[in-house]
Amino acid sequence: MYLVDMPDFTSNSDSTSNKNSDSSKSTYYMSHLQNFSFTILDMLAHSQLSQAIYIIAKFRIADYLKNGPKSVKELAEQSKTHPDSLYRLLRMLASVGIFTEIEEKEDWKKEVNNNNKRKFDITPKAALLQSETKGSIRNFALMFGLESFNRAIYDLSYSIETGENSFKHANGLDMFEYFQQDQNRKDAQIFNSAMASLSSSHASSMFSMYDFSQFTTVADIGGGQGILLSHLLKTNPNLRGILFDLPHAIESAKSLHTNVSGNPRLEDSGDFLSRCKLVEGDFFKSIPLGADGYIIKSVILNWDDDSATKILKNCLQAMKKTKAKAKANATTMTTKMTTSTSQNEDRQNGYTPKLLIIDLIMQEGNKPFIGKFIDIVMLALTHKGRIRTEKEYRNLLHNSGFDITKIVYPSDYVNFLSIIEAIPSFINIK
Ligand SMILES: C[S@@+](CC[C@H](N)C(=O)[O-])C[C@H]1O[C@@H](n2cnc3c(N)ncnc32)[C@H](O)[C@@H]1O
Repeated sequence: MYLVDMPDFTSNSDSTSNKNSDSSKSTYYMSHLQNFSFTILDMLAHSQLSQAIYIIAKFRIADYLKNGPKSVKELAEQSKTHPDSLYRLLRMLASVGIFTEIEEKEDWKKEVNNNNKRKFDITPKAALLQSETKGSIRNFALMFGLESFNRAIYDLSYSIETGENSFKHANGLDMFEYFQQDQNRKDAQIFNSAMASLSSSHASSMFSMYDFSQFTTVADIGGGQGILLSHLLKTNPNLRGILFDLPHAIESAKSLHTNVSGNPRLEDSGDFLSRCKLVEGDFFKSIPLGADGYIIKSVILNWDDDSATKILKNCLQAMKKTKAKAKANATTMTTKMTTSTSQNEDRQNGYTPKLLIIDLIMQEGNKPFIGKFIDIVMLALTHKGRIRTEKEYRNLLHNSGFDITKIVYPSDYVNFLSIIEAIPSFINIK
């Protein structure tokens, strides 16, 4: 992305070279050094970029361009911002493809600071910051304005020095504990909506990667506001769902999907409310029984190996108990209906649950990969969370009692999540 190849100046293979070649080597070095420092400057400026995107989301600037280009003056009036400062922000963003300034050939270009005539239009990137666009990530951009979040990011050097969580260092509590405090409800709401907007934008590409119709009941563990489930239930009319999360997240799922009169609020909310059970709980204590598909999306990256193992082992327990219950039910039915032994065995053994971890898988080596950036965000925000490599996932799942059966890597540019399918090792033991 940004990285330039630097020649190897440390090599002394030509230590015998004459003065001329020394001077051309030095010129070559200087020109590369200059390029390199420009690239570093470019990178340093990128903290302004994430702040600028947050501000666009906050003031709904992209929304005001829904019906076509507008002058800076109009945009500033609608968003109650300072016209010239807004112009400068839009000019910076247009330089990276977020909005475009409309080129006018008229004389006004010679005028200084005419924000009546300077106009901006939407671009595909800017459209993702509109609140109603399909795949909108406006809510995700809003998360970048959270003070608690920014305090942690600015305190990253603490994590690098100590290996500990800078969110806790800066805010006094682990992130998920912080969100559970009454006084931090607003932050929790923004976080939940941010996650929901990512889920929504990735849903259709995930459905093209994996056949979810094979399941009868899907439980989404740490499923947030239930966006993935609501899309899944809408596209699979025979599927049932279980949404499992902390109380504040279940609360916000209820209000997202229900309007003030108690009716479904979003396009997919009807299917969600009629076929999904909403369960509050703590995945470190127990996980609901009764599903044959257990999804854990964007959760494992939040935790260290010990905590992740605990969550996965609790999933395994839920699967074991569901299997035992199915077996007990089948036995009761057999007794009542005097079903043949072979039919009974089929019912007992018919429960073949699958675990689906939907998450980023770290790409090793020097290549650019968004996961390398998100990994650092995990380092700052979470309790030793990280983006794991395929090998690390294999170890984690093996130690938690699962065998990986399939890994599907993302097939398109929009989605960066992979799907790891695993089955409990006990199923393989005959
Ligand atoms: C990064 S979010 C992912 C949300 C959702 N799966 C998604 O992909 O949009 C992590 C989720 O884990 C939930 N969570 C954190 N600690 C939890 C716990 N102890 N028990 C249950 N859920 C928890 C959070 O509330 C949050 O919804």
